[in-house]
Amino acid sequence: MRTSTDAGADTALRYRAFAEVEARGLSACYEAWAAGVALDAATIGLIDRLPPTKRQPNLVFSAARFHGAEAGGYLGFRAWLAANWAVVEQTCRSHATQTNEPGRCAVLLPALGSLPGPLALIEVGASAGLCLLPDLYSYRYRPGGRSADGPGDGAALLDPPAGTSPVLLECAVTGSVPVPSRLPRVVWRAGIDLNPLDVTDPADVAWLEALIWPEHDDRRARLRASVQVARTAPPRLVRGDLNEQVEALVAEAPPDATVVVFHTAVLAYLDEAGRDRFVATMARLRAERGVRWLANEGRTVVPGVAGTLPSTLPAASGSADFVLSLDGRAVALAQPHGRAVHWLG
Ligand SMILES: C[S@@+](CC[C@H](N)C(=O)[O-])C[C@H]1O[C@@H](n2cnc3c(N)ncnc32)[C@H](O)[C@@H]1O
Repeated sequence: MRTSTDAGADTALRYRAFAEVEARGLSACYEAWAAGVALDAATIGLIDRLPPTKRQPNLVFSAARFHGAEAGGYLGFRAWLAANWAVVEQTCRSHATQTNEPGRCAVLLPALGSLPGPLALIEVGASAGLCLLPDLYSYRYRPGGRSADGPGDGAALLDPPAGTSPVLLECAVTGSVPVPSRLPRVVWRAGIDLNPLDVTDPADVAWLEALIWPEHDDRRARLRASVQVARTAPPRLVRGDLNEQVEALVAEAPPDATVVVFHTAVLAYLDEAGRDRFVATMARLRAERGVRWLANEGRTVVPGVAGTLPSTLPAASGSADFVLSLDGRAVALAQPHGRAVHWLG
């Protein structure tokens, strides 16, 4: 039988690993908070009142910041958390980590641009749907390793037909990235999520902001700008499980458009059976309906994709965490927030 002491040890290990593996180099604040929690039995005692799936550092820290915890050192956070635990606990129980990162559109766009248009987009695991708007953002693809210092740096710029978007997605590129000459025409779009967030609801937007790590000010600014863009025409989002809903949405899409089902940072939430079922559905929809399938996920997350990667990969491309695949075949490596992409082959 497991004891509460075992649970505390598990939580300590989980927070230490988060500090050393996930936060280091990306957030000094979260590294300090997680390392501090790992050594602090009293705070672990609070966190262990939550069900195991709700004890994730990312969820607890986001909930704390949602309620006003200031970025800073561990001792200040410890005292704040002890004083505000009741509301943090409630938010951890009612919310989930569902970061919506529109920067990932910079990774999707070259693949979308290679497909015959017009496009009908279906995003599974859409959160608030900010990745459903790739045709409403501006892009700047900069050859990797060069500074973004304006004309002459070899960057490719793309704007929507109506003019420059308030959302500029910057992406460093290596390999022969097929940057399209213009943005694809999207004639229909819809998303699916277990818990769709609403860009017109200030509480949902505040939660999306809290999910962005403290030091990532550029991502926060981008989120705010893309929420403003999305509010002009909020994307349609269906509540439900992607495996249950995707075929009905495909059936609704206009028949004269190329239907693209896509997802980014989603399949890791599914168990093995759920992932296998989704992959089988995509293969069938491709064969029966010509549906295209674009996935931007961790390297080993989508069944079958890792086996299509070349045997030698760039050593330090800065873009090696996610794999972009089209119809089950790897086409690019991508930095998880879309800051960099390396095209394969
Ligand atoms: C990390 S977020 C990514 C959101 C968005 N794709 C992006 O990249 O910005 C993952 C989303 O997938 C959703 N999700 C997880 N499992 C799901 C499922 N079985 N069916 C539908 N949505 C799911 C979550 O609710 C969450 O909003």
